[in-house]
Amino acid sequence: MRNGLVVWIAAAALVAGCMSSSSATPPGNDGGGGDTAATVTYTKDVQPILEAKCFPCHAGQGMGGHNIATVYADALKPVTSLDAPQGCWNDVDMTMPKTIGECALISIMTGWMPMAAGCGAATPPDPSKCVTPAQIAIIAAWVAAGMPQ
Ligand code: HEC
Repeated sequence: MRNGLVVWIAAAALVAGCMSSSSATPPGNDGGGGDTAATVTYTKDVQPILEAKCFPCHAGQGMGGHNIATVYADALKPVTSLDAPQGCWNDVDMTMPKTIGECALISIMTGWMPMAAGCGAATPPDPSKCVTPAQIAIIAAWVAAGMPQ
């Protein structure tokens, strides 16, 4: 009985470890570790996600003043919306805007974007509209790497 419990805990830890590492691994990674940040780019990894999830508002319509899903340069522009969530600005006096790319990550994580999709809710009305945890990990790695093109 006691041994059985130990085996069960070890197996559960193994499964949990596998799950967390695979969900955080961007495509093209060899699983060796240490090489993810350098290989994540806008064109190869991030744009396909944004095109799928931020269309059509930021893929030509220019809502919120940017088309991050189609124009790389827009990721580097400063945030302009006073509605943007905490972290997109210096929140004390709404100065020092971050870039649209950095704010995109924050906006997704807080559920503000995709707009009106309810992705911050425990059960979003249409989960297919939401950015998945694996996709968020890719965008986070891209931001951490300095948003390479
Ligand atoms: C249904 C349309 C729609 C979709 C889909 C959408 N957005 Fe937005 N987004 C908007 C609108 C409208 C604004 C401006 C909101 C405001 O200022 O109140 C905005 C603003 C933003 C801003 C702030 C821009 C600034 O300069 O302050 C960011 C960042 C952003 N969106 C990221 C995203 C990302 C990333 C996605 C996809 C994961 C996405 N949005 C999907 C409509 C949309």
